Amino acid sequence: MEQKLATITQSFEEALASVENTHGLEELKVRFLGKKGEVGKLMSGLRDLSNEDKALAGKGINILKKQLAEALEAAQDRLKVIEEKKALEDQWIDVTLNPAGSESGSLHPITLVHQRLEEIFEAMGFMVLDGPHVETDYYNFEALNFDPHHPARDMHDTFFFNSGRLLRTQTSPIQIRGMETFKPPIRMVGTGKVFRCERLDASHEACFHQVEGMMIDKGINVGHLIHTMKVMLSEMFEKQVEVRLRPGYFPFVEPGFELEIACLLCKGKGCAACKKLGWVELLGCGMVHPNVLRSGGIDPTVYSGFAFGMGTDRLAMQKYGITDIRHLHNGDLNFNRRFSTASGYKVF
Ligand code: DAH
Repeated sequence: MEQKLATITQSFEEALASVENTHGLEELKVRFLGKKGEVGKLMSGLRDLSNEDKALAGKGINILKKQLAEALEAAQDRLKVIEEKKALEDQWIDVTLNPAGSESGSLHPITLVHQRLEEIFEAMGFMVLDGPHVETDYYNFEALNFDPHHPARDMHDTFFFNSGRLLRTQTSPIQIRGMETFKPPIRMVGTGKVFRCERLDASHEACFHQVEGMMIDKGINVGHLIHTMKVMLSEMFEKQVEVRLRPGYFPFVEPGFELEIACLLCKGKGCAACKKLGWVELLGCGMVHPNVLRSGGIDPTVYSGFAFGMGTDRLAMQKYGITDIRHLHNGDLNFNRRFSTASGYKVF
């Protein structure tokens, strides 16, 4: 029996040394440890032995079985690593390589506008903040001085969740979060998506974008507001734009204004983008309402501030001559391609 065990061990070792892959290893396993394999045959042979020899031989066979199984397992681990490495080498592709004739990607016009705005405001010492898309009624309305049943809430056709939370209808909640986090003097802006249940047309989308801004310090007045807006717009459009201010109502500012610019697409003559008015409402702004300062933990008898909020989809439309807001979201490559050279912001 000892002789037989030694022969099997030797032929196993020879076979194992020439195995090159996990498939070959599987075959080896069947050949030696399978039901009708070499070790199995030895087991069947035990029948003819005396009880005493049977016990001894059985013990030897079990040891052999264990050794072979361990050797197979170790080989399995080793070959698997080799095979995986080879597969990685064979299937490697250079994802940074542009296939011949293909074009590089570029940033979306809204992203370009947001980046530019953030740059302009950072240069004026503003910090850039962010806020969540899913908001509470408190941050989106209550803290911004919207009374529970005030009709101003109706102007924001709101998507509500069953939990009572909502998709923010404006970026203004960032003001409250900013005031809660930082102490005056505060200069902050925030850009992002906002959501309203809108009827879609050339200038309305259910998901659109805004930039929000706020400056709070001692003695801030409307002059600071107008100057900051003028700097932002002339930097953005790289020219002096015609501006007009009208009184406007927003619960969180007093006084509040609507700032309009002469339509850059039709130069004031009237087109689809400006609803044939020649003027485009670009942003809402005003002096921060004392109740809002209080919501942010700031004493309105000591500090004052201005705030503004602007739709950036329409801004991008004005800047890049886009006549229908739906182009911005429909993923049409022919449209998006136009922006790969629209500015210096190339991705690759
Ligand atoms: N949140 C307003 C809106 O979506 C825009 C706005 C107006 C923001 C005046 C302001 C502001 O910060 O002062 O209609």
